[in-house]
Amino acid sequence: MKQYKRVRGMHDIMPGETEKWQYAEKIISETVRLFNYRELRTPVIEEQSLFERSIGSESDIISKEMYTFQDKKGRNLALRPEGTASAVRAFIESGLFSAKNITRLCYYGPMFRYDRPQKGRYRQFYQFGVELLGGFSPFFDGEVIEILYSIINNLGIEGCYFGINTLGCRECREKYTGKIKEYLSSAREALCEDCKTRIENSPLRILDCKNDRCRELTKNIPSIKEVLCTECTIHFDSVLEYLGKKGIAHDVQTNLVRGLDYYTRTVFEVYIKGDNNAIAAGGRYDMLVRELGGEDIPAVGFAIGMERLLTLMDAKLPVLPAVYLVCMGAEARNACVDIAAGLRKEGIAAEMDYDDKSLKAALRTADRARIEWCVILGERELEKGIILFKNMVTGVQEEISSEGCIQRIKELIKC
Ligand code: HAM
Repeated sequence: MKQYKRVRGMHDIMPGETEKWQYAEKIISETVRLFNYRELRTPVIEEQSLFERSIGSESDIISKEMYTFQDKKGRNLALRPEGTASAVRAFIESGLFSAKNITRLCYYGPMFRYDRPQKGRYRQFYQFGVELLGGFSPFFDGEVIEILYSIINNLGIEGCYFGINTLGCRECREKYTGKIKEYLSSAREALCEDCKTRIENSPLRILDCKNDRCRELTKNIPSIKEVLCTECTIHFDSVLEYLGKKGIAHDVQTNLVRGLDYYTRTVFEVYIKGDNNAIAAGGRYDMLVRELGGEDIPAVGFAIGMERLLTLMDAKLPVLPAVYLVCMGAEARNACVDIAAGLRKEGIAAEMDYDDKSLKAALRTADRARIEWCVILGERELEKGIILFKNMVTGVQEEISSEGCIQRIKELIKC
């Protein structure tokens, strides 16, 4: 018989691990709530061209990694590779938000990229993202970076740092891409095959190339600072000043350009020392709303790669109280069903096995399920009007009167 396996690049999140995810999700949602961001839920499937227009057809995500297909009516659709384009699409389509107001949104869910699977790189992965629409001031950039910083801190993750850069406005960018072309014009033949194309279509991306030779050739390339207009310079300096005031450690990295086309001005990524994979990334995208058919609304946001974040979390998760009920015989089984219901009413998780098992086998099951507490009820206990309550970790057990046993269990579990 065929044994089914996970599709390559996909992963299961099993009990044991799920608790860690739930803990992180709780901390993240509590953190963004304090900044008053409200959750948006968009479909996993969108029109393929939504992503092509926003992320850019020259990007790796669009040219190599997108899951695309036609539905039965021949519509060209895609599994979302990221959340920003969908958030902007929903923002425009709903018509609920006024250009004069600030809209603060957050989202959480699976994204899909046909990437080469490796550590921290999956084909289905989860992102938690934040998008702030309508704010032009550098303080908004500061706010979203501060949220990301607070999430990392609140999860107790240490050793992260922000890489930050500016890509300038459209005019600054045009000037800068001209400078890159000029600088690399004589080195063209030495570039990797991808960068030979990039020099025509998206010269900025050459700065992000992982090829050693391209890295060497761009090592001393002039910084964008040389061509930044006054407004872009002031904007970037103000963001850096905000981070300084908040004590958020950061490095200005002049070769940080990001792999998505929609960015303008501030871009940033978060790393942990010794690992090249960013845990989270984002930036400002002042043109995207208009490019997708909306008004002229500036925006800034970020997304966290949850799998990467979770590998850094070493939280000692609180063990939630749970009781395993072991019964021997039909009468004990009925009594245990009632005790289980009573425990659940009090908010204590309770489970039992309805099949007849030996005491030894039942206790082994409880142990394997890593349940700390056991109720044991057999003929002897029924006769005496008691239950046995056992702590599986310490081995200590106590006889409790059946009457009022829920109250006593509550007391014992709490102490
Ligand atoms: P991104 O840099 O493409 O940006 O992805 C954000 C984060 O998602 C990455 O830093 C990484 O942690 C995680 N990630 C990306 N690809 C994978 C993968 N194959 N496996 C596991 N994790 C992955 C965006 O998606 C932008 N939408 C961020 C943004 C929001 N910019 C403005 N607003």
